[in-house]
Amino acid sequence: MAVKKITKIGVMTSGGDSPGMNAAIRAVVRTGNYYGLEVFGIVRGYQGLIDDDIYKMDNKSVANIIQRGGTILKTARCKEFFEYEGRKKAYENLKKRGINGLVIIGGDGSFRGGKRFHEEFDIPSVGIPGTIDRDIVGTEFTIGFDTAVNTAVEAIDKIRDTMDAHDRMFIIEVMGRDAGFIALHSGIATGAENILIPERKTDIQDMIASLKEKEKRKKLVNLIVVAEGDEFGGAEGVNKIIKEHLPEMDTRICVLGHIQRGGSPTCIDRVIASRMGYHAVECLINGTFNIMIGIKENRINHTPLEKAAKLKTRVSDEWMKIVKILAS
Ligand code: F6P
Repeated sequence: MAVKKITKIGVMTSGGDSPGMNAAIRAVVRTGNYYGLEVFGIVRGYQGLIDDDIYKMDNKSVANIIQRGGTILKTARCKEFFEYEGRKKAYENLKKRGINGLVIIGGDGSFRGGKRFHEEFDIPSVGIPGTIDRDIVGTEFTIGFDTAVNTAVEAIDKIRDTMDAHDRMFIIEVMGRDAGFIALHSGIATGAENILIPERKTDIQDMIASLKEKEKRKKLVNLIVVAEGDEFGGAEGVNKIIKEHLPEMDTRICVLGHIQRGGSPTCIDRVIASRMGYHAVECLINGTFNIMIGIKENRINHTPLEKAAKLKTRVSDEWMKIVKILAS
């Protein structure tokens, strides 16, 4: 089959923003321009496609953004794109400009949209994993995770100072509605006693028993890191359970929230975003469509968009064993 010649591409950021998305946009625009493609920025993801909020980008329009968090293209979670009528409008807006390739920077939800769009309207798409959650298969990195987890670690270290001074227990909630990687990494990096994540059931009786045992031996400084989407309802839910069993325990909670999604991207996030952006354009030019660009063992890896949209990275037993052993 002849390779479809890509001449004009659109780039968008979709879903929750993540630090490093700007570096990816910059890489897509500059690589596209290098190869003589016209590159268009789509504002607010699929919503901008539907609303025809699309503009031409050149090398200058991505100057001085590599160090900035957020996304200059803005982002959204678009319900209208779930409907066929919305997708049709989006297609017509692309067609009238002759845009025949798309780079979608986002998470699994964004890739589901891209896959569907391709099936119905045959727009070649390449995905770039941009999410602080790091829950996408086919890659060891997602843009923004490194920054988010370092923001969490910095905040937790600060909390530890005051926690230690007061002999208190802290329950810290980090982001991750469906994914526990921020909790797992920031918890291990800050020496948390317990880490609660959505992917794993927590033996709450076991946790209470160990806290009681620690209370007995006057170990009152305990750090629990919980992902917002864990089974007990985040920090508040966990605190409630602890208080029921250990009413004397001096506990405080802290919800780190969206601070984890902002800020200047780390070097790792800037570099992976730049590599992925460059490769996404190369793929479109070479006729490798409907895949997500990932990085595995420091090599570029392609995963079918369908798989990236459907499957989640799992948390192995070993991770939980490490947490348990190191906290004892
Ligand atoms: O982008 C991923 C994420 O930050 C999750 O960790 C979190 O659960 C969710 O987005 C929050 O989304 P919103 O900003 O729409 O509340």
